[in-house]
Amino acid sequence: MINLGAFECEAATGSEIDREALLAIKAQIRKDPLGALSSWNDTLPFCMWPGVTCSLQDQRVILLDLSSLNLEGSVSPFIGNLSYLGGINFQENNFDGEIPHEIGNLFYLQSLNLSYNSFQGEILTRLTNCSDLKQIDLASNNFAGSIPVSIDSLPNLKLLWLNRNSLTGSIPPSLGNLSSLVVLSLAANSFEGSIPDDLGRLTSLQFFQLSENKLSGDVPPSLYNISSISSFLVSVNRLHGSLPWGIGTTLPNLRSLWLGMNQFTGPLPYTLSNASLLESFDIGANAFVGLVPDNLGGLQNLLNLNLERNQLGKMGTNDLNFITSLSNSSRLEVVVIQFNNFGGPLPNSVANLSTSLKVLVMGGNQITGSIPSGIENLINLNQLDMEQNLLTGTIPLGVGKLSRLNKLILSSNKFTGEIPSSIGNMTLLNELQLQSNSLWGSIPQSLGKCQDLNLLDVSQNNLIGTIPKQVISLPSLSRSLKLSQNLLTGSLPSEVGSLINLGDLDISRNEFSGEIPTMLGKCITLENLYMNDNNFQGAIPSSLSTLRSIHRLDLSSNKFSGQIPDYLQDFPLLQYLNLSFNDLEGEVPKGGVFRNASTISIYGNRKLCGGIPELKLPNCTLKDSKERGGSLKQKVIVPIVSAIVILIIIIATVPVAYNWKGYSIKKPVFGSFMEDQYMKLSYRELCIATNEFSSDNLIGVGSHGSVYKGILNKDEKVVAVKVLNLENRGALKSFVAECQTLRNVRHRNLIKVITVCSSVDFKGNDFKALVFEYLPNGNLDKWLHLEEDGQNHLHKLTFTHRLNIAMEVASALEYLHHHCQTPVAHCDLKPSNILLNNDMSAHVGDFGLAKLLHEIGDSFSHNQTSSIGIKGSIGYVPPGTVLSLLLYSF
Ligand SMILES: *[C@@H]1O[C@H](CO)[C@@H](O)[C@H](O)[C@H]1NC(C)=O
Ligand SMILES: *[C@@H]1O[C@H](CO)[C@@H](O)[C@H](O)[C@H]1NC(C)=O
Ligand SMILES: *[C@@H]1O[C@H](CO)[C@@H](O)[C@H](O)[C@H]1NC(C)=O
Ligand SMILES: *[C@@H]1O[C@H](CO)[C@@H](O)[C@H](O)[C@H]1NC(C)=O
Ligand SMILES: *[C@@H]1O[C@H](CO)[C@@H](O)[C@H](O)[C@H]1NC(C)=O
Ligand SMILES: *[C@@H]1O[C@H](CO)[C@@H](O)[C@H](O)[C@H]1NC(C)=O
Ligand SMILES: *[C@@H]1O[C@H](CO)[C@@H](O)[C@H](O)[C@H]1NC(C)=O
Ligand SMILES: *[C@@H]1O[C@H](CO)[C@@H](O)[C@H](O)[C@H]1NC(C)=O
Ligand SMILES: *[C@@H]1O[C@H](CO)[C@@H](O)[C@H](O)[C@H]1NC(C)=O
Repeated sequence: MINLGAFECEAATGSEIDREALLAIKAQIRKDPLGALSSWNDTLPFCMWPGVTCSLQDQRVILLDLSSLNLEGSVSPFIGNLSYLGGINFQENNFDGEIPHEIGNLFYLQSLNLSYNSFQGEILTRLTNCSDLKQIDLASNNFAGSIPVSIDSLPNLKLLWLNRNSLTGSIPPSLGNLSSLVVLSLAANSFEGSIPDDLGRLTSLQFFQLSENKLSGDVPPSLYNISSISSFLVSVNRLHGSLPWGIGTTLPNLRSLWLGMNQFTGPLPYTLSNASLLESFDIGANAFVGLVPDNLGGLQNLLNLNLERNQLGKMGTNDLNFITSLSNSSRLEVVVIQFNNFGGPLPNSVANLSTSLKVLVMGGNQITGSIPSGIENLINLNQLDMEQNLLTGTIPLGVGKLSRLNKLILSSNKFTGEIPSSIGNMTLLNELQLQSNSLWGSIPQSLGKCQDLNLLDVSQNNLIGTIPKQVISLPSLSRSLKLSQNLLTGSLPSEVGSLINLGDLDISRNEFSGEIPTMLGKCITLENLYMNDNNFQGAIPSSLSTLRSIHRLDLSSNKFSGQIPDYLQDFPLLQYLNLSFNDLEGEVPKGGVFRNASTISIYGNRKLCGGIPELKLPNCTLKDSKERGGSLKQKVIVPIVSAIVILIIIIATVPVAYNWKGYSIKKPVFGSFMEDQYMKLSYRELCIATNEFSSDNLIGVGSHGSVYKGILNKDEKVVAVKVLNLENRGALKSFVAECQTLRNVRHRNLIKVITVCSSVDFKGNDFKALVFEYLPNGNLDKWLHLEEDGQNHLHKLTFTHRLNIAMEVASALEYLHHHCQTPVAHCDLKPSNILLNNDMSAHVGDFGLAKLLHEIGDSFSHNQTSSIGIKGSIGYVPPGTVLSLLLYSF
């Protein structure tokens, strides 16, 4: 009995220690929102407290499971008194602070799960005494320190999860002694140095994860020999080396191989297809080269294939053969091969990929051919991205059947034809990017059915017609709506007021007209609004004063009139305001964005005055001058004209390299090559348009070719067709110069190019032509000569005309010299190259001798001997042009 009593006494003592320890642990819990520990009181024996498991025999705590209770607090050192404890599950709480070193007293501890808390400080060295440990899970905390060399004093360790902490130092080779290790996860820490060769001795390893560290050097070849490995994850490090050729046979259990964002090189081994369990292969953002093995289709279990951002492919016709083999991978869900060197045609077999495919991303390659109509088979596609390739042909009508599509990105290719109206059937579409192609026709109304669309970009195509109300009123559009650089006409519908979530609206460089609808003021989240280079007119409405989120506003090159609204100076975020080349008048405000001459551009508005001194505008005394009426000509015009003449001479003669400081703003970057962004016309169409280039239609003959008037039957548009005389030496050069220039410039006083035709005529000879807008009033030369004859009084150039023409030519030249992405020297400015529109506005044409000045750039001023220098004619303007134009009237 006594003995028994002594035993009981001892047991009671042990239990008492455990009970006290548990209460001490409870005492350090600051918050217990679920009341989980409220029943840890004397009404129940502690072995029955929730989360506590005792040994039956001696009533000692063997498992403490407080997981997922939203507890907040730190861990008491008394935990070290629970000396029989075999398992601690504290995962998924809000514990913080350090783990007390008393944890090292728990000699029987086998399993420790502290994952998903906010623990800090050192821990691993404190665990090296707990030699029974089989599982350590510290994932997602803030533990610091390094892995101690003595980690191999835990010989039974099977699982070591240290991912998502702040651990540092190098990986000790002694880890290789843990021969039972099945899981080694060190991901998302700050480990550095190389991966020790000793890890190759971990012959039970299945899950190997070192991703997101700063590890460098080669992956030791021995690791590729651990046949038990099923997950080999080392993405986002600084690792080198190439894959051993036999990898697919030495790692027969491989399911996931993730090497992305490292510096791996070399080819992809052909034996990959022997790793028949492989599900996920991700090598994105490395430097792998060569062809992708065309037997990948042997991988029946493949789900994800990500090869993006490497140097795979040889820009050759066989590059995409592997796609064909992949049609055997019936579980495939993701294929991403963007930004490689894949060339050759898109195989039709792309349509034979698994119908479980969700993501197909092939952008940024040199892929040719067209999208097969069979693409409609891939009914589970979420994302189809083929941007930045050389794809041609039309967008197949059948894409409309891809009803689960979220993203359709076909931008920067050479697609032609119309935007299929079936796209409206993709009701889950979020993002539609078709910009920078050669699409024609109008914007389909049916896009209005895509009620989840938040980004629509069809800019830089040849689209015509008006903006469908159904599209401009899609309230889901939140990121951007870009219709710029097309041939769209009509007004901006007032339905635009529905775009109350929109950030960017760009309708620049079209043929829009009419006034700004007041409803635009409802789009209060707009940050960037580009309406430049259209024919908008009227005043800038007061309703826009609500657009207080605006960062960038460009209304330049339109026909806006009236005053600059005062409210613009109150827009707190406005950092770019371009109102150039309109007919704005009156005082320029001085506050807000107008305080800094470098954030605004107001060129080419003749009637502005005031503003900050840097703008060098006249003072606002116009009210008085108006009243003075009669004396206007002598007192105002003469000095103005002289100033303009001087200005023009300065503009025309000052080297372009001279940077006009003050209130200039760089124009936005211009689009891709002309042939991509304008509508295409064939020789045949031009032949019809000009009545077979009949002499009746001939309106001019120049040194490099003849100009015909024509009518395009497509939209009854009257055009001028300049046909190059290719027998004339220099004509081709002149054609190229003109194309190069015109693709870079756009200004309302420069002749507008509609398209370029580079083709062969019916006899098989080369045929090159430029198609321009037709300006009914012919060239200035004609007008000046009429004048000299003194004959036709109807055709008299009034003083105002002359002044306007001079201003407009000056404005065009100023633009060419100072505001183009690449400055341009016209080199052949003369009256016959200045064309007049119906309203007598001037348009500078004939860029056949024009020079792009980027090559000369800086060297111009001090190195005139440069071989590409301009032949002294940059500033040369025949006197007949501008001077005579003005002087005649005096
Ligand atoms: C003590 O625990 C019991 C359940 O075991 C509970 O009903 C009681 O409310 C608790 N007492 C206190 C003071 O929290
Ligand atoms: C229990 O733990 C505390 C804190 O570590 C310690 O001060 C105390 O001596 C321990 N009690 C026993 C009986 O081990
Ligand atoms: C630790 O807890 C987390 C979260 O519940 C769980 O996912 C993980 O499997 C556990 N670790 C071990 C080794 O059991
Ligand atoms: C543990 O590993 C280290 C380095 O790999 C080695 O030098 C040492 O002999 C190993 N210890 C045991 C007990 O295997
Ligand atoms: C990998 O295993 C093969 C066959 O067992 C052996 O010949 C080779 O030396 C091993 N390579 C490494 C680096 O351990
Ligand atoms: C690898 O696969 C090829 C067929 O793709 C087969 O001929 C070869 O025997 C396999 N190698 C091994 C080691 O299984
Ligand atoms: C695809 O599967 C067929 C039938 O199983 C087989 O004949 C063909 O060789 C396989 N192709 C590839 C590339 O594995
Ligand atoms: C696509 O698969 C079908 C049926 O398996 C086959 O008849 C057809 O030839 C395949 N097409 C291509 C382009 O591989
Ligand atoms: C859109 O879907 C409807 C119904 O599913 C179908 O009748 C119609 O033909 C489709 N439209 C296009 C253009 O594919």
